[in-house]
Amino acid sequence: MRPNPSPPVCLVVDDEPRLRQVIIHLMRNDGFRCLEAGDGVDALTVLEQHPATLVLSDIRMPKMDGIELLRQVRARYPETAVMMLSAVADVESAVSCFAIGALDYLTKPFNLEEVRARVAQALDRRRLLIENREYRERLEDKVAVQARRLEELFLASIQSLAEALEVKDPYTRGHSVRVSHYSVAIARTLGLDAEMVRQIELGGHVHDIGKIGVRESVLNKAGPLTPEEYEHIMSHPVVGWRILSPLLAETPAALNIVRSHHERFDGTGVPDRLAGAAIPIEARIAAVADSLDAITSGRPYRPAVPGWVEALSELRRHAGAQFDPDVVEAALRAAASGELALIPRAEIAVLPSRLRTPIKGVSL
Ligand SMILES: [Fe+2]
Repeated sequence: MRPNPSPPVCLVVDDEPRLRQVIIHLMRNDGFRCLEAGDGVDALTVLEQHPATLVLSDIRMPKMDGIELLRQVRARYPETAVMMLSAVADVESAVSCFAIGALDYLTKPFNLEEVRARVAQALDRRRLLIENREYRERLEDKVAVQARRLEELFLASIQSLAEALEVKDPYTRGHSVRVSHYSVAIARTLGLDAEMVRQIELGGHVHDIGKIGVRESVLNKAGPLTPEEYEHIMSHPVVGWRILSPLLAETPAALNIVRSHHERFDGTGVPDRLAGAAIPIEARIAAVADSLDAITSGRPYRPAVPGWVEALSELRRHAGAQFDPDVVEAALRAAASGELALIPRAEIAVLPSRLRTPIKGVSL
């Protein structure tokens, strides 16, 4: 057998003891457990000890009137229904009580049957309000779980693409991690906001994804590339952009890096021949980071330039033509402050896992 549910609690607040008793009698007959108070202050003291389903309150009372009590109850006990009982049919005070959150307003003298009916109505409304709020909360929880799941799937699909490229081009793995790392250091030095930095980090990780569309014979060719091969390899920004457009719609800066990291500041780059400030800042940053890593790493077709100092001075040599001079300047400042430091190839294995940084509320 299920235990009997405890009876609803009604607090009757009125400075007239006789009137309180009449209402208490009525409410007890309707199955309520009743409490009483002679004014608003006493009522709040009672409520601290005994949460109530319903408060029936007079308006004019000493110490704290019914309107202030209503305000306090709404603020402290949002699930408690409050009905006002007034000696005067004052429209203005009725309106202000409803505005504060009273569920009903009755004028004295009462017809007891009417009180009973109006209490039942008020409790029905209270139940609906509570159910509605709980439903909204459950819905919000469900939506949040779904959104997290979608974001996890999204990151997992990007991860799979990145892994597919690593299999095909072992060079890319460390490269993407380092480009992401260098880009973040430069972006921070330029004072970009945290959301932009997160997108830049993601963009760095996936900027060369389009190389999965490049023939392996070209990708890993030891000798110099023919013009056709060069053109083929340089299609990767657009290929990557096509692949990632549906996935990175919420992170446009990351997508901009994929498409525009081979643009040149002087307008002679690919794929859109953008120049200067027309190249998104995130792509200008990634271009510097990309080259910094290309200079300091070996390629199948070119030995590495070993020194960090030489690499930085090469960046400076190309500032204004290939690179945004402000971004190069930021890279040099970041290197001087230690924010930007060369990551040797051997250290890649100990770098944190890729795509671990939360993006726009995403955490893995
Ligand atoms: Fe690239």
